[in-house]
Amino acid sequence: MDDLDKLRTDLLAQVDAAADLKALEDVRVGALGKKGAVSELMKGLGRMDPEARRTAGAAFNVLKTEIAGAIEARRKRLEGAALEARLAGERIDVTLPAREEQRGSLHPVSQTIDEVVAIFGEMGFTVAEGPDIESDWYNFTALNIPPEHPARQEQDTFYLPGETDGRPTVLRTHTSPVQIRTMLNAKPPIRVICPGRTYRCDYDATHSPMFHQVEGLVIDETTHMGHLKGCLIDFCRAYFGIDDLPVRFRPSYFPFTEPSAEVDIGCSRAGGELKIGHGGDWLEILGSGMVNPAVLENCGIDPTRYQGFAFGMGLERIAMLKYGIPDLRTFYESDLRWLRHYGFAALDLPSMVGGLSR
Ligand code: DAH
Repeated sequence: MDDLDKLRTDLLAQVDAAADLKALEDVRVGALGKKGAVSELMKGLGRMDPEARRTAGAAFNVLKTEIAGAIEARRKRLEGAALEARLAGERIDVTLPAREEQRGSLHPVSQTIDEVVAIFGEMGFTVAEGPDIESDWYNFTALNIPPEHPARQEQDTFYLPGETDGRPTVLRTHTSPVQIRTMLNAKPPIRVICPGRTYRCDYDATHSPMFHQVEGLVIDETTHMGHLKGCLIDFCRAYFGIDDLPVRFRPSYFPFTEPSAEVDIGCSRAGGELKIGHGGDWLEILGSGMVNPAVLENCGIDPTRYQGFAFGMGLERIAMLKYGIPDLRTFYESDLRWLRHYGFAALDLPSMVGGLSR
């Protein structure tokens, strides 16, 4: 029985010393497993005479129950401690400020389209759109651009394989074909602006093969050059947010307008830095003119009854001027640092539209 006492003390000490569940399991196997110390004792019972077997069997069973109970108690303690440790390790400090969520921003081109649409929207214009892929009839012919015009040449225009309505297919080189589509589909009075993508074979700091323009078209019975001037002066001043921005109309030539005018705004280039406003210098920002009667006729509109004006401008160009973006190519590099720097919060629109009366 001394041996049994010693085994008991020894096993209970092992149980107590088990530092984690894994160690405790090893102790259990060593005591109660198939080849464990207590199990080995039990196996010896068969060789005892009945009297000794009864006493020893009872003592072994007491030992077995005691050890199993000790192991179970220890397991509960260890499990509780493990849970405590996990809870302590994973504790969340709910008083910490929330991590700021990353918000996307509006690309300067989207922002500029929104601004331009807002300004012309206040003047009663609606937005019209057309396809990027056009036949050369919409892009050139209907706009009175003659067959030999240099703009039609392959070094300027992307021609696509295949024909559209029996004519060469092009990526539109300007938004002016939307004028044609609008006049073919709607009766005057017409008052639309047409923002959209345009394409030309060109690539440098101020040209990208894909860029954006906004086209404008007004057709009715009485609109004249004075309206063209008033409308574009108001636009330039609202867009740049300068109430008395100098605006100048310079005679020019476009096949689709007669007469035609390029529009310059006042600026200064003192010290090599471009500043929009009163500076005695001029900067060209858009093309315009009275719609050529030949274009009206191509669209089935009677030029003896209707007249109006049109204009077109590069969106990136006016965005670069307003927001001081030096290189056009950066618009399309998808550099997140650039987008974060020049992008706009999605809800900033009303305050960003300079000069609008609200
Ligand atoms: N389509 C011209 C271009 O891409 C811009 C333009 C000039 C459009 C005069 C017009 C206009 O509607 O009247 O350069």
